[in-house]
Amino acid sequence: MAEPIRVAVIGGGNMGRHHVRIYAEMFGVELVALADPRPAAAALAEERGARYYPDYLAMLAAENVDAVSIVVPTALHLEIAEAAIAADAHVLVEKPIAATVAEAEQMTASAAAAGKVLAVGHIERYNPVVRQLKRLISEGAVGTVSSVTCKRLGGFPLVQPPTNVIIDLAIHDIDVISYVTGQPAELLGAHGSRTFHPEQIDSAELLLRYGTASGLVQSNWVTPVKIRSISVTGSRGYLEGNYVSQEVVQYEASVNPEDGAWSDFVSHFGNPRQVVHAETPREPLVLELEAFVSACRGRSGLAIEPAEATAALATALKAMQIIGAQHG
Ligand SMILES: NC(=O)c1ccc[n+]([C@@H]2O[C@H](COP(=O)([O-])OP(=O)(O)OC[C@H]3O[C@@H](n4cnc5c(N)ncnc54)[C@H](O)[C@@H]3O)[C@@H](O)[C@H]2O)c1
Repeated sequence: MAEPIRVAVIGGGNMGRHHVRIYAEMFGVELVALADPRPAAAALAEERGARYYPDYLAMLAAENVDAVSIVVPTALHLEIAEAAIAADAHVLVEKPIAATVAEAEQMTASAAAAGKVLAVGHIERYNPVVRQLKRLISEGAVGTVSSVTCKRLGGFPLVQPPTNVIIDLAIHDIDVISYVTGQPAELLGAHGSRTFHPEQIDSAELLLRYGTASGLVQSNWVTPVKIRSISVTGSRGYLEGNYVSQEVVQYEASVNPEDGAWSDFVSHFGNPRQVVHAETPREPLVLELEAFVSACRGRSGLAIEPAEATAALATALKAMQIIGAQHG
């Protein structure tokens, strides 16, 4: 059997603690360390049998790790990724890949020059619902796609986010639509507002073009129920995906019943023929980290390339610029 991969997590906050949990339980992985200056992170490391370091540079110098997850505030992604690559580690950096496109490109070039894997935590690429949608679209289930609508709504987070909904939420959907349509994103317009957050845009709508299809992205921390959905309209059908239940409902195109009575109309359109595609749900972060470890072993490709993550960042930053201008 292959030697276990020695992994460390840098940043053990809201998201990092899930990386810690999953690596600690993953077959073929040894979680060796957690680095985080917050003293509370020591307990998390101990609970999972990992060594704790307040300083990630000390950890990289001491531990000879094969791979790291970088789960820290975005402004630190480049600096820490470069240090990890210099320490000969493969890198998974949480999304967004970096704070700027130039930083993302620098990180990508450093990883390529060192021959290291650079994975980006665009978790929805690993969500089975997105893979189902991609498969159904490519099998022609909806014909020609004319639009994709994504809703990522609901619930102001318990801790006031240091960022806005475009960079935190909409970036997932900007990327997912590109993935399922196979087309790059072109931003046509954006609008946003502040409802609860004292400084950041907490509600935004983006209009995009993906080849001949349009993309509508609605993101907020305002809607009082949590909604995570994606729907695809095509010439021959309609798909509705739920990111949480990981179910896709496929509706077949309806043709107007000719000369029908009102009751025919109701029975025809009230109950369109539908097929439910449901598999046993899997935790997307587990799939993402398994893909990373597999890529570190040189086995399989990642679901998202750094260039695609950089493209999603560029579009999100453009939307932020447009919305920023609306708010003076
Ligand atoms: N993929 C997703 O859906 C998703 C969801 C949430 C967050 N994220 C991303 O994960 C990253 C972290 O977000 P979060 O919500 O966990 O934030 P967080 O504030 O809860 O945690 C960040 C952690 O990083 C630690 N940290 C700060 N500086 C450090 C340093 N120099 N060395 C080591 N640790 C350091 C902090 O002490 C903190 O514990 C961000 O890039 C965010 O965008 C992604």
